[in-house]
Amino acid sequence: MATGRLAARVAIVTGAAQGLGATYAEALAAEGARVCVADVLDAEPVAAAIRGAGGQAIAAACDVTDPASVRAMVDATVRAFDGVDILVNNAALFAKLALSRCSRSRAPSGTG
Ligand SMILES: NC(=O)c1ccc[n+]([C@@H]2O[C@H](COP(=O)([O-])OP(=O)(O)OC[C@H]3O[C@@H](n4cnc5c(N)ncnc54)[C@H](O)[C@@H]3O)[C@@H](O)[C@H]2O)c1
Repeated sequence: MATGRLAARVAIVTGAAQGLGATYAEALAAEGARVCVADVLDAEPVAAAIRGAGGQAIAAACDVTDPASVRAMVDATVRAFDGVDILVNNAALFAKLALSRCSRSRAPSGTG
């Protein structure tokens, strides 16, 4: 039986195959949450590391821009853990998005 502040809670973390999302997923699991580690990339190594540390986790392929993909990920979480209590909607592109890929209208003021 899991112990910790989040024992019996179920969490989904998007963009959790690496970076901050993986850290959120591991921290939630360390507090006893059962975690769905969701990403467009392979999230199984993060889920396996959580299980290896004694936690409970599944990996799910999920593109947060695709409603059907999100629905399938949530369904897989509910099947595995019987509900969802927490969503960490972390997935996004950030520092690695080159300015050259931004349109002029969307670029921050003075950089476009
Ligand atoms: N790192 C920072 O300094 C910083 C600062 C402010 C905000 N943020 C935000 O924090 C979040 C994570 O940042 P990070 O540095 O860990 O980024 P990261 O690039 O290391 O990780 C982002 C993860 O999101 C996944 N992802 C991207 N698009 C996705 C999609 N459509 N569906 C599902 N998964 C998707 C990627 O595959 C990746 O695993 C981002 O939302 C970012 O904007 C980061």
